[in-house]
Amino acid sequence: MTEQAHRPVSLDPLGNLTRTHYCGEIRESDVGSRAVLMGWVHRRRDLGGLYFIHLRDRSGISQVVFNAEVNAEAHAKAEMLRNEFVIAVEGPIVKRGADTINSNLATGTVELQAAKLYVLNTSATPPFQLDEEEQAAVGEDNRLKHRYIDLRRPRMQSNLRLRHDVNLAIRESFHAQGFLEIETPFMTRSTPEGARDFLVPSRIHPGNFYALPQSPQIFKQLLMIGGYDRYFQIVRCFRDEDLRADRQPEFTQIDVEMSFVREDGVLGVVENLMAAVCAAAGAAVPRLPLPRLPYSQAVEKYGSDKPDLRLPPMARVDDIIGPRDLPLEGPLAAIRTPSVGRLTRREREQFREYAAEQGLRIFDDANGLAAKMPAQMAAVRDRLGAAEGDFLALCTAREKIAAPRPEHAVFTAAGNLRLRIARAFADRHGLFDKKDLRLLWVMDFPMFEWSEDERRWNSSHHPFTSPHDDDIEKLATDPAACRSKAYDLVLNGVELGSGSIRIHSRAVQAKVFEALGFTAEESRRRFGFLLDALEYGAPPHGGIALGLDRLIMLLAGAATIRDVIAFPKTAKGTDLMCAAPNVVPPRNLTELGIALKTMPRG
Ligand code: AMO
Repeated sequence: MTEQAHRPVSLDPLGNLTRTHYCGEIRESDVGSRAVLMGWVHRRRDLGGLYFIHLRDRSGISQVVFNAEVNAEAHAKAEMLRNEFVIAVEGPIVKRGADTINSNLATGTVELQAAKLYVLNTSATPPFQLDEEEQAAVGEDNRLKHRYIDLRRPRMQSNLRLRHDVNLAIRESFHAQGFLEIETPFMTRSTPEGARDFLVPSRIHPGNFYALPQSPQIFKQLLMIGGYDRYFQIVRCFRDEDLRADRQPEFTQIDVEMSFVREDGVLGVVENLMAAVCAAAGAAVPRLPLPRLPYSQAVEKYGSDKPDLRLPPMARVDDIIGPRDLPLEGPLAAIRTPSVGRLTRREREQFREYAAEQGLRIFDDANGLAAKMPAQMAAVRDRLGAAEGDFLALCTAREKIAAPRPEHAVFTAAGNLRLRIARAFADRHGLFDKKDLRLLWVMDFPMFEWSEDERRWNSSHHPFTSPHDDDIEKLATDPAACRSKAYDLVLNGVELGSGSIRIHSRAVQAKVFEALGFTAEESRRRFGFLLDALEYGAPPHGGIALGLDRLIMLLAGAATIRDVIAFPKTAKGTDLMCAAPNVVPPRNLTELGIALKTMPRG
């Protein structure tokens, strides 16, 4: 606490005082009327006989003037005001003189002439300046520790308002499309989404644990079996996984499930939803239907299953340039980065080093290559649609690749290099325009992924995803060739959502569990209730879940999802404000029948 907080200031009661306007609302049409504004002192300027206060609430800022000549009492009282004091002011709205108009404020042509000041609360000196627009100047830990102050920043206010507006548009869109919002439990048992569970010990059943849901996947399928036909939920999910800028241990999904549909049915609903969301967010509404790219093409053209369409695709060019021209090991991928001109030697070295880390050999001397094989390079430029000033790099594997899909390994590595190069020039050349929202569907994912560590097949999506009708027979004989009915919605290189048509036949579900290496006993133990439910008239069904936090992050142009969540966790999964997670008294553990093997720190 600072000295200031302890200064004896006698506070005024709110009493019968009623606010007439929000601070950001007053306009010239209000000139002459008497107003009562309430809010926080954002900034205070002392010009001798005049105090100018910027008064702030969630709607914006108004200027309030305390003039000793007009109202000596109010002016004298205003002397005590400091940043973040909470006040109410009463007085007429007046027009500002032409030379004092502030065009940076929506209220900048008018001000409130204070006749009466009510000090509703004082404030200690804030740990950081709120009118300092550059958030980077204030360390994020400091912001998160005092989140209630950070939340007052205009940027946070507009992000959370956007989140509200989008939530509203989501509910309206689903309602209009015949969906019901239904809640599913938070205290449940494990759902397999590939992360670790957060566990909640049961006091009544010592030694037993609930798991917080990684997603409502099984419940939404059970709702379809229960006959609800179209379900959605804006729902919190919990995953104990390593965190990144676009991951939180608790996050929100827009969760959807529908009966009697094929892929088209789900995609159509989500496309309508995205159009409504973009409109609500004031973003450009995408042209529908959205582009669809098969997984294999996404990998070949963009080196990723989440392509960023703001950059040009890569091209495979080993039909133009062969092993006689260059020392090739497997396919040759060509990358084009638009309008970055000639690279410095240092830049080229950095990219070479990165390429080597990725297992790639690169040929990036366009002039040298063009001199050596002019016709082939002209054909490559043509295929890439390269213009003067674009930077070209050709890449191949450094050595023979032993993995199951070697060409995928080369394309993926080339895709990483493509992003690395573009990011290095992003600021100078505006390669990643945040306002340019490029949505697409990636379709036809493989059913399984081989895990070298576990030496077994894992689901690419989750074990309830339906295989392609033509590939059911391959489940047992050729899992690598089995395609699934899974799809991802991708926005600017970020996986926004994932979904699939589900298995509704108990026999097929059992085959998939088998292909995943689950014994009959294990399947029964983990998913017995789902297998039972599939026996009782499960309709064909499918769905998707979109990450709401990621969606808002991209719409707001924020750098991390922490900036669009009111009370997020740090990258280490802690809440710095509440100091969570924390140790609990031994009595609580005893009650739960839990004894700690390692003593907690702190
Ligand atoms: P999936 O696991 O792909 O699918 O999750 C769907 C979407 O949720 C978002 N997401 C996250 N957002 C923030 N922090 C996280 N830790 C996090 N993890 C996931 C992503 C992701 O695309 N039940 C299936 C969906 C289905 O099949 O219907 C599921 O949960 O945007």
